Amino acid sequence: QAVLPRLHGAYALAVVWAELPGALVVARKAAPLLIGLGEGEFLCASDTPALAGFTRTILPLEDGEVALLTPLGIELYDAGGTRVQRTPTLLSGTEHVADKRSFRHFMLKEIHEQPETAALWVARHLPEPVAGGAEAPHAGSLVALPLDESVYAGVERIQILACGTSRHAAQVGAYLLEQLAGISTSVFYASEFRYAPPPLSAHTLTIGVTQSGETADTLAALAMEQERRQLVADPAYAPRLLGITNRPESSLARMVDHILDIGAGIEVGVAATKTFLGQLLAFYALALAFAERRVGQRQGGGSSGRSREELKALVAQLRQLPQQLEALVADHDQRCAALAHRFEGTQDVIFLGRGINFPIALEGALKLKEISYIHAEGYPAGEMKHGPIALLDAKVPVVSIAVPGTVFDKVLSNAQEAKARDAQLIGVAPDCPDAELFDTLLPVPVVDELLSPLLTVIPMQLLSYHIAAHRGLDVDQ
Ligand code: BG6
Repeated sequence: QAVLPRLHGAYALAVVWAELPGALVVARKAAPLLIGLGEGEFLCASDTPALAGFTRTILPLEDGEVALLTPLGIELYDAGGTRVQRTPTLLSGTEHVADKRSFRHFMLKEIHEQPETAALWVARHLPEPVAGGAEAPHAGSLVALPLDESVYAGVERIQILACGTSRHAAQVGAYLLEQLAGISTSVFYASEFRYAPPPLSAHTLTIGVTQSGETADTLAALAMEQERRQLVADPAYAPRLLGITNRPESSLARMVDHILDIGAGIEVGVAATKTFLGQLLAFYALALAFAERRVGQRQGGGSSGRSREELKALVAQLRQLPQQLEALVADHDQRCAALAHRFEGTQDVIFLGRGINFPIALEGALKLKEISYIHAEGYPAGEMKHGPIALLDAKVPVVSIAVPGTVFDKVLSNAQEAKARDAQLIGVAPDCPDAELFDTLLPVPVVDELLSPLLTVIPMQLLSYHIAAHRGLDVDQ
């Protein structure tokens, strides 16, 4: 307690002292620290999976707090040194399991768990159509989300703050919120937003996306936004914060009023896969929920979004997702394993996508660099000719996401440009005559373009996984 005021920056500390061998002193600031209450023992860890197998009862430490753990119990103190009492929370059953089963790596297991993630999501959030026909008046909502109506009411703008993979999910989300619900949406790197936020806008919903719920930049950006809005007297600028996370017990959940729990279960591999899918699905549900409430409204001279019929058609297709993922994961696991050896000497890979699949190109590049250490860039396909094309030659594979819809022809012609530079073209596209352009095809079924990221991401994940595993790397770390 005497030392902590002298420390700068973020920390999570666990201190032992030889004079008191049965005791641990723990403290945190802007970094996660959980206390676990076991049977005849107390534990501390930075994350819940570390406590799996020991206990399901946890006490998350708050910023600035200090705790003394002894076999007799826990003494908790606030930053001022005053003793505080707080009730521990119980983790849900799924949070408790961290087991590789028969898979070689957690990452591969988690990729294979995605059909289940999608099935749970469909069961939770897409209520079955009401008997007597969907045309019956008050046939019910298309999407069921555990959010208060105040989250939706009067929202004119949305801003999303996130880092890494979560930011890519947010970019897909922004596309959906704009195209389905007609709400202007901006996505920010949380680490940039903190230091240069845009001018305050009225009636704005701020969404923080972090699967761990503990990413320091995302939490700090949200806290900053909350504080600056609290200083404004006009209620139009009041903070409205929503968190999207896989950890309902996290720091994020304790900071914001509304939470969407993606419920993907523990993700052990460092490369986010099933939690990315979970975040995407959370945004599909949120965009549909907003769109449903705005059907028929007009904004700025144009229609604000889609008709109820169009939304219903999307929901019907979303119900097929678990089966589609099941087939896709099994198929691409084999295809990507066979393809991986071709990347033995590869040093650079370019990922191209446009529209709603541009964030998936970014995600493909991030996955590859994060676990295989191969340099990779994700680019909007139409931008390639403005510079990056200079990098292309026969040694640089180009992965191009081309699905039927608004930009299909455009992406194919961008792929032609790459081919003219002798690049090895890998297409993530439907198996159709247009796809003959690609040297290798990783086929995906044809769905509504708006839903395609949920499928195109699968070959991205499996390609990265198999390239890294083929190189003998520790994929999960
Ligand atoms: C980074 C990870 O440290 O954090 C990325 O390497 C991840 O994979 C990013 O996407 C953000 O994590 P979170 O928990 O905020 O979604």
